[in-house]
Amino acid sequence: MRALVTGGCGFIGSHVVRSLVADGWEVINLDRMTYAANPANVAEVVRHPRYRFVQGDICDGALVRELVGVADVVLNFAAETHVDRSLLDPGVFVRTDVEGVVMLLEALRERPGTALVHMSTDEVFGSIPAPLEAREDRAFAPSSPYAASKAAAELMIRAYAETYGMAVTVVRCCNVFGPRQHLEKFIPLFTMRALAGEPMPLYGDGMQEREWLYVDDLVEAVRLVLEGLPTVAGVRAVHVGSGERVANRATAEMICDLLGRPRELITPVADRPGHDRRYALDSSRMRELGWAPRRRFVEGLAETVRWYRDHGAAWARTAQGDFARYFERQYGERLGRR
Ligand code: TYD
Repeated sequence: MRALVTGGCGFIGSHVVRSLVADGWEVINLDRMTYAANPANVAEVVRHPRYRFVQGDICDGALVRELVGVADVVLNFAAETHVDRSLLDPGVFVRTDVEGVVMLLEALRERPGTALVHMSTDEVFGSIPAPLEAREDRAFAPSSPYAASKAAAELMIRAYAETYGMAVTVVRCCNVFGPRQHLEKFIPLFTMRALAGEPMPLYGDGMQEREWLYVDDLVEAVRLVLEGLPTVAGVRAVHVGSGERVANRATAEMICDLLGRPRELITPVADRPGHDRRYALDSSRMRELGWAPRRRFVEGLAETVRWYRDHGAAWARTAQGDFARYFERQYGERLGRR
C-alpha cells in the first residue's frame, strides 16, 4: 500500500510516517516545512527506499493532484494547530486547514479508489460541560479560529462526500503529547521551562481540563482505522480519546514533581481569550473496534518529561522555526518583561 501523508514532518504526522515505513508501507511525505515541521522528525527514514519526501504545499492543486494520483490512501496531518497562533494570525489557518483540505478533496474526487483519512480535533465542539462527553454526532461549536478552521474543513469534507459519493474517515483526537512535539505546546513548553528553572506561564486559573493521549496510542488508532477503511460513501467520524482529563495546573505540578523542580515556578498569567474550559470525547466507537490506549497519562507524561530532559537541549537546537520571537510576542507582556 502507498500512503500520501501530508504534514509528515510535524509532530503527529512524523510518528505515523515512521510507523508506516517500518511496517512495509510506501510513504510519500508532502510537507511545506513551516515553522512546525522538523527534518529531525523523519531522520530515521529519510534514506529508506520506501520513503519519499516532497516539499510542497497542500494548497498547490497541481502538485496535490499528481501525488494523490499515485496513492492508495491520503492521510491529512498538514495543518496549523496552535490555538494561540490562531489568535495572532488566523489567515494562515483558513488557508492551510480549510483551503488545503479543499485542494485534497478536489484531487480525490477524480480518484474514487483513493481513501482519505483526515485528522481533526475535539476542539470543533468547543467547551464540553462536565460530565458530558462529545459523541461523534455532536454539533460543532468552535471557540477559536483554529477550531473553526478544523470545523470548516470537516464541513467541506461532508459536502464533498455527499456531492461526489466519497468515503472519508475523520479522526477527531483529544490533546496529544509525547517526544518531538514542538516547544510551543503546553507540555514541552512547561517541561523545558521547568528544566531551565524559568516561570511556567499558566493561563488563567489553570483549572481548564484537557484530555491527554500519548502519541504512540494515537498512531495505533490511526493504524487500526487504516485496516478498516470504509467503502460506503459518506463521512465516518471516530473519536480517539484517552478519557483521562486533567486540569492544567495538575499537569504543571506533575511536571515540576517529575523533574524535582519547585511548583512555585508555575506562574499564573493572563488567560487565553475564549479559552475552552473542558474537552471530553466519547471514544466508545474506537474502543468497540478494539482500540484502547496502552499508557496511562502519568506513564506517558513521565516518559515524555524524561525525553525532554535527556534530549530537549539538542531538540531545541533543531528547527523550531521562529520560537524565540513567538515566545516573546506571546509571553513577554504576560510574564512582565516589557
Ligand atoms: P495547548 O498545548 O496549546 O493545546 P490546546 O489549546 O489545543 O488544548 O494547551 C493545552 C492547555 O494548556 C490549554 O488549556 C492551554 C494551556 N496552556 C497554558 O496554560 N499555558 C501555556 O503557555 C500554553 C501553551 C497552554
